[in-house]
Amino acid sequence: MKVDLKIMLLMVLAGCTADKQDVDSSVVSAPGASTETGSAPDATTETGSPPGASPTWHADVRHLVESSCTGCHEEGGIAPFVLGSYADFFAMKEMVANEVSARRMPPWKAVDGCAEYRDDISLSDAEIALIVDWVDNGAPEGDVADTREGTPPPAGVLERVDLTVTLPVAYEVNTSAVDDYRCFPVDWPLEEDVFVTGYEVKPERADLVHHVIAFIIPGSYRDALATLEAEDGKSGYECFGGPGPISVVDSSWLGAWAPGAVQGLLPNGLGIRMKAGDLLVLQMHYNSEEGTTGTDQSAIAFSYETAVEREGWIQPFTSPSWVFGAGMDIPAGELGVEHGFEHTMSNGFTIHSANLHMHNLGKAGRMEVGKADGSTECLIAIDDWDFDWQRGYVFKEPKRIEVGDKWRLSCTWDNPTDADVAWGDGTGDEMCLGSVLMSVD
Ligand code: HEC
Repeated sequence: MKVDLKIMLLMVLAGCTADKQDVDSSVVSAPGASTETGSAPDATTETGSPPGASPTWHADVRHLVESSCTGCHEEGGIAPFVLGSYADFFAMKEMVANEVSARRMPPWKAVDGCAEYRDDISLSDAEIALIVDWVDNGAPEGDVADTREGTPPPAGVLERVDLTVTLPVAYEVNTSAVDDYRCFPVDWPLEEDVFVTGYEVKPERADLVHHVIAFIIPGSYRDALATLEAEDGKSGYECFGGPGPISVVDSSWLGAWAPGAVQGLLPNGLGIRMKAGDLLVLQMHYNSEEGTTGTDQSAIAFSYETAVEREGWIQPFTSPSWVFGAGMDIPAGELGVEHGFEHTMSNGFTIHSANLHMHNLGKAGRMEVGKADGSTECLIAIDDWDFDWQRGYVFKEPKRIEVGDKWRLSCTWDNPTDADVAWGDGTGDEMCLGSVLMSVD
């Protein structure tokens, strides 16, 4: 049987491995069906202050800060300063008002109204207005007796750690550059296949580690990656939008972590298969303030089982021709360039989380499912893309993609540079990649 390359790639993009063959062959059984085309509901808005009274720290603002800010703005947290007490907050109040009204903080990029996600730390329009109003009114402290309870995001720690994978040596972070993207191949040490059921990234230098993506790579790449690592005499190798010179068909994500992303167990009892002899490539993004120096030897803790009820995998979704360098042109000097891709499903899946990936020129992106009845189900939409704040958004309730549904992805870029840009994994290249955590049931 002749299978053209494009279909093969789509099969692989569909996570096609021997054990999932039955599923994936049907994902691609409608080769003609793909076409390319050029927050959660508001959280409580009631305030603690009596109607007509000005908002106060204790009654109105403090619980929002506990729910949406202190997870990062705490002692030892990723953010550069603490926002715990009234005094902390008061000292920064104008800046805070600016950041929240511009929706730069908290860094939750999924637009309101697309889907309902777990552990949503975003602020609703009403909550933002309230904070701004409070600051405009001189940010009064109010009475501590009026304090409302915040709901801090879950700690995201694993209850049971079965295995910890640590960067092989302490890496001297290149702090002469603001951003240092480095990939570290690490042997997956187990001798039998297991299902990873949860993970917890443990950045050694929380002030330097900006994000971590863990890729699963076949062991056959071990020697090639070792050669690459030897090139500049430091551990690891430079990489940016992916795990380096590894065919897109051979790499899959185990997980991605950005500061603030909730970790811990995968949702809904899922486990992702790791084969004996596989490699992990840990892609670290270090982001350093001027004057910071030092080494990092971060680790990831895992829990795993030898069998799980639901095997899950992270399924990338994109146009095969983009990956081959065709059809995703982002011409020099053009703003608002949009490309989209649609695939009609030949099989059904359950999806548990959604994620988008672009690089630095990305502006907006959207992944959705067109249903048979003409309605649309939004999975993830981001309208102020920021490479630094990538994470998976876990649905409150798993969603279904059914046979005949149209899975769609679109991305928009601004290219103010004088170079044409297309798909690639370098800092100057772009991607438009969706991914979902999926299971067959
Ligand atoms: C996911 C982690 C995280 C959360 C949650 C978070 N911040 Fe931040 N915040 C950061 C980081 C990291 C920085 C440093 C700047 C950067 O890396 O973008 C920052 C910077 C800031 C700044 C300074 C911006 C500047 O221009 O230097 C303010 C003000 C701020 N945060 C306020 C808030 C407020 C208010 C909340 C809650 C409503 C919040 N942050 C929630 C991580 C977070």
